[in-house]
Amino acid sequence: MKALILAGGKGSRLRPITFSTAKQLVPVANKPVIEYGIEAIREAGISDFGIIVGDSHAEIENALGDGSRWEAKFTYIPQVAPLGLAHAVKTAKPYLQDDRFIMYLGDNLIKTGVAGLVEEFKNDAFDASILLTRVPNPEEFGVAELDGDRVVRLEEKPKQPKSDYALVGVYLFGPSVFDAIDVLQPSFRGEYEITDAIQGLIDAGKNVRSHIVTGWWKDTGTVQAMLEANRLILESMSHSIKGEIQDSEIDDTVSVGEGARVVSSCIRGPAIIGPGCVIEHAYVGPFTSIAAGVTLKNAEIEYSIVMDDCRIEDAGRITGSLIGRGVNVTRAARKPASLGLVLGDNSSVTLP
Ligand code: G1P
Repeated sequence: MKALILAGGKGSRLRPITFSTAKQLVPVANKPVIEYGIEAIREAGISDFGIIVGDSHAEIENALGDGSRWEAKFTYIPQVAPLGLAHAVKTAKPYLQDDRFIMYLGDNLIKTGVAGLVEEFKNDAFDASILLTRVPNPEEFGVAELDGDRVVRLEEKPKQPKSDYALVGVYLFGPSVFDAIDVLQPSFRGEYEITDAIQGLIDAGKNVRSHIVTGWWKDTGTVQAMLEANRLILESMSHSIKGEIQDSEIDDTVSVGEGARVVSSCIRGPAIIGPGCVIEHAYVGPFTSIAAGVTLKNAEIEYSIVMDDCRIEDAGRITGSLIGRGVNVTRAARKPASLGLVLGDNSSVTLP
């Protein structure tokens, strides 16, 4: 079997972060979110990956390389325009040929991994296998209408969802999916939807299997979902201290990277501090990931993601925040005691 990872898409709900970073490369527990998907697929024994890329092609390729880091072979497949998931699959046809494949949306995280699914799908006669999970906001996803455990209808982003079973961004397909894609019309959002292609398979009497996901699943397309994914990964990972700790209180659910210095501070886990950070007279609360080279002095932060090389000094308490690379948050040395903001397009600031 082959894998098709989708790493195009604009990530508009994660702006301004996604003006400069592909959404699949935003770090969760200090690791680009897409790498969790790659690892899950490698654990399922697949080493042949097609990676669909769009405008952020160079950045993705630069970050992931040729796959040798995972003992895998990556083939990058440019998609001319973000015309939908089904269009991406069609674009990958010369690469996929007649092989059965797993399609994985590069911003999805799934706790249970995919090894069991791949094993089952590899040898059976199903045309497609889909994953479903209950969500409180089904109108934001593809939604399945079930009759017992049989899927009778799928609808993309329905205004009035018939159930709260959302389609998870992990799908397994055989080559018959290409016939279903060939006859698709663009949806209300102008995209060729994979949801409609699966409906086409059902209408044509093909075998579509569904599974209900039991562990957690996250589509990290929004800041809230990204912070939640960060919490879930931090909770489930193992931790170690490599940096230097002085006069500080650190939980055993905290990781501190090489060359980092934690001085006169308190870190409550689960949390991760990247290599080369300086944490001084600071409090880092649970569910916080701080990437490499960050300075945090006289500041408090919790339930947040801070990307590389930021400087946060003499700040108050920061919570529920996603902070991009190289950001400075400091206090004015003199009057006026007012906010001084340099914010990119679509930034958001919540004042106390
Ligand atoms: C896509 C699919 C949707 C699915 C979701 C899962 O949505 O179209 O059916 O439920 O991924 O992440 P999109 O991310 O394009 O809004």
